[in-house]
Amino acid sequence: MSSAGTIVILDFGSQYTQLIARRIREARVFSVVLPPSASAAEISRYRPAGIILSGGPQSVYEEGAPTPSTDPTSFGVPVLGVCYGMQWLARAEGGEVVGGRDREYGRATAKLATDSELFHGLEPEQTVWMSHADTITAPPPGVRVTGSTSDSPYGAFEDTARKIYAVCFHPEVQHTEHGSEILQNFLFRVCGVKPEWTMDSFRRDKVEAIRRQAPSGSVVCALSGGVDSSVTALLLREAVGERLHPILVDHGLLRAHERSQVEEAFRRFGLSIRSVDASDLFLARLAGVEDPEEKRRIIGRSFIEVFEKEAKSISGARYLAQGTLYPDVIESVSIKGPSQVIKTHHNVGGLPEKLGLELIEPVRELFKDEVRLLGAELGLPKEFLSRHPFPGPGLAVRIPGPVTREKVAILQRADEIVLEEIRAAGLYDAISQAFAVLLPVKTVGVMGDNRTHELVLAIRAVQTTDFMTADWFRMPHEVLDAIALRVVRTVRGVNRVVYDITSKPPATIEWE
Ligand code: XMP
Repeated sequence: MSSAGTIVILDFGSQYTQLIARRIREARVFSVVLPPSASAAEISRYRPAGIILSGGPQSVYEEGAPTPSTDPTSFGVPVLGVCYGMQWLARAEGGEVVGGRDREYGRATAKLATDSELFHGLEPEQTVWMSHADTITAPPPGVRVTGSTSDSPYGAFEDTARKIYAVCFHPEVQHTEHGSEILQNFLFRVCGVKPEWTMDSFRRDKVEAIRRQAPSGSVVCALSGGVDSSVTALLLREAVGERLHPILVDHGLLRAHERSQVEEAFRRFGLSIRSVDASDLFLARLAGVEDPEEKRRIIGRSFIEVFEKEAKSISGARYLAQGTLYPDVIESVSIKGPSQVIKTHHNVGGLPEKLGLELIEPVRELFKDEVRLLGAELGLPKEFLSRHPFPGPGLAVRIPGPVTREKVAILQRADEIVLEEIRAAGLYDAISQAFAVLLPVKTVGVMGDNRTHELVLAIRAVQTTDFMTADWFRMPHEVLDAIALRVVRTVRGVNRVVYDITSKPPATIEWE
C-alpha cells in the first residue's frame, strides 16, 4: 500500500479508533483500520510494520466480544494493545483478566517505566485517560510490567523479544497528555518506520491502485462541486485519463452560477463534464411538497434516476467512483466487518448495485482535512478546497414549505449576496458554513411611497469543527448591515432580513 510502512489497526469497536489512525497520520505514517475479522492475507496485503489493537466497549468475557480471526503476533511485527486490545492480548498470552469488576473511567495518573522504548522521553508520572471494563490481575508470563495506575497495577506491559506492548489507557485521546509521543515512540522506536508518508506518496500509491483496479473500461462519477467528489474526479482523471466520465446532475437547486463554475474549473484540468439539466423534473416532483424528509427522498430518488440514465448512455461503463470519506467508512466497518453502509446523505448510495458497477473509493481512508490537502496537491483551486459544505438536496432544504422555481431564483440571488459580503469582509474562512434561508412568511415594508408585502430572508452562519454541534457566528454588525441593505435593495421579493442566533443543539444548522 504505502512504501513508508503501514500500521494496521484492528478495530474492536472503540469510539476512539479513528483517532488512533488520525494520530498516526499526523506523525506522517500511513495507517489503515481493519475489522478483527480481517484474514491473514488481508492484513499481509498492507505489509504492516506494526499492528495496533484498538480499545472496545466490551469486556473480553462478554458474549460476542470481538476477537481477531488471525493471531496478530504471527506477523513478526510489533503489536500494541490499547485498553480492550491490551486485555485481549493479556488473556491470549496467558495472563489473567477479570471482567467488569470496577469500571475505570476518566483521568488517572500513570506511573511509567521511562526506560521502555514506548515511554522514551516522558516524565515517569503521566496524566492518562482510562475507559475500560476489565482489569488484569496477573500479567502474561515473561512480560515486563512497565506501568501502573492506582486501580490497575498492571497498567502497561511489554515483551520486547516477542514484540508485544500494551497500555491500559488511551494514548490517542487528547486527555492523555503525552499520548501522541507514546504512539510516535511505538511507530519510530519500536516499529522502526520513518515519517515519510505524505500526500504526494498517497497520490502516487492511489493512482497506481486505481490503475490496478480498473485496467480497462469506463469509470463514471457524480460531481457536485464539493471537495470530496472534486478530489475523487481529479485522482481518477490522473489514473485513467479519458476513461473517466464525470456527470453533474443539476437539480435546479444549486447555488447561483454553481454549474458553470464547476464546469469551468474542471475544463482547466481537461475534464469535460456531462451536465444534465434536470431542474424541470426535480421541481415538478417537488411541487407542493412541504415535508423536509419527503423533499430529501424525492431528490435522492430522482438523482439516482437521472444519474443512472446518463451513466447507461456511456459505453463500456464498468466502474463508479465515489468520494466516500474515512469517517463514513469507519462508522460502518466497526466490529461487525466492512458492511460499508453509505450515509443516506451521499446521494448515490445504492447506485453501484443498481447499475452493476464496481465501486472505486479512492479517498475512503482519508479525513476531510486530509482530502483538502490532497486536493491542494492535485491543484484544485482554493475556492473549491475551502468551500463551506453544501447539502445534497441543495436549496430545497433552505426554502421551508413548498419549493417553486421563483423562490429558488430569489434565494440564489440573496445567497450570492450573503456570501459575497462575507468574503468581502474577509470572514469566509472564519465561518464553517454560511447561507441564506427563504422563509415562507410575508411581512409588511415600505419602499419609497409604496407599501410592500414580501418574503423574509434569514441568514445563518455557524462555527463548528465537526458539524455535530455548532455555535452561531458573532457576525459584525457592519457586515449584517451591508447584507441586509443589498438584499432588500436588489432582490425583488424580499423586504426583510433577520439573523439566526441559535446554536446546535438545540437548533440544527439547516432550517429543514
Ligand atoms: P444539520 O442541519 O443536520 O446539518 O445540523 C449538519 C451538516 O449536514 C449538512 N446537511 C446535509 N448534507 N444532505 C447533505 O448532503 C442532507 O440532506 C443534509 N442535511 C444537512 C448541513 O449542510 C450541515 O453541513
